[in-house]
Amino acid sequence: MLVQDTSKLKEDILRLKKEKDVVILAHNYQIPGIQDIADFTGDSLGLSRQAAKVDQKTILFCGVHFMAETAKIISPQKKVLIPDLEAGCSLSDSITLDELKNWKKQHPNAIAVGYVNTTAEIKSELDYCCTSSNAVNVVNAIPKDKEILFLPDMFLGSYVAKVTGRKNMHIWAGECHVHAGITPDDVTKKLDSMKDSEFVIHPECSCTTPMLYDLASGSFNDRNVSILSTEGMLNKVKDSKAKNFVVATETGILYRMQKENPDKTFVPASDKAECQHMKMNTLEKVYDSLVQDKYEVTVPKNIADKARLAIDRMLAIS
Ligand code: 13P
Ligand code: SF4
Repeated sequence: MLVQDTSKLKEDILRLKKEKDVVILAHNYQIPGIQDIADFTGDSLGLSRQAAKVDQKTILFCGVHFMAETAKIISPQKKVLIPDLEAGCSLSDSITLDELKNWKKQHPNAIAVGYVNTTAEIKSELDYCCTSSNAVNVVNAIPKDKEILFLPDMFLGSYVAKVTGRKNMHIWAGECHVHAGITPDDVTKKLDSMKDSEFVIHPECSCTTPMLYDLASGSFNDRNVSILSTEGMLNKVKDSKAKNFVVATETGILYRMQKENPDKTFVPASDKAECQHMKMNTLEKVYDSLVQDKYEVTVPKNIADKARLAIDRMLAIS
């Protein structure tokens, strides 16, 4: 479609989603315009929960492909659409099905715990799924003597191993290029420029690694620090008495943070932390999705049925 006036486009989207009985779910990294027209904006866990309980027959998922697949696995009877089928994720691409099967063969008695940032095929090989907000609880729910294969994010894995004290966790060496790109140097510069700020960090960030010992105790160089999912960060900054925050994650989250807390100041740990996959979704593509019922995300039934077990185990714990 031709690019048109944004407010008219938003009006058309709101009208169409009502007429066609569509619910719009948006991740916290989506562009501001999409967050404005979404019925729910949240983190991976929150959006999975919404997908499971919404009444509408169609879910238009404004996020990346694995998130829309997760919604489809949870609600197989619903139609799930994504505005751009190419919206992928470098982290979910960091392990293949063959690699996982080989890894499991090497550790036949281990429990496989996989981050929600994985394809449906990978989820179908997992015992448990987890997200950044419940990974610690999921690992704690597994008997201490059981070996764990944790995939695919090495930074989240190291953080979980540190917090739970697990010594029998094998961690896949995958990473998200956006979070891995936020360096300890970026962080130091921003923290130095905002001496009185609190520091909130997403567990996919590599900048956490040198700080893990301090972070597990909740402070870093005498500063309040929290490692949280995107929704956890939003709750934290709302509840905190602090006025200034350095935020180490994808910069799209700052829109909601600022909107919900107009009297507080937020700066990104790195201005370059932008996920090009998340930003592939635009209002024009959302409009086209609604008009043309595209792009439908499907998951073969045999894969979805197996993957659902891992997701359901996660939802039962958190
Ligand atoms: P959250 O579940 O914390 O929103 O994280 C999802 C994600 O893709 C982070 O890069
Ligand atoms: Fe994947 Fe990283 Fe983008 Fe999140 S920010 S969707 S983990 S590439």
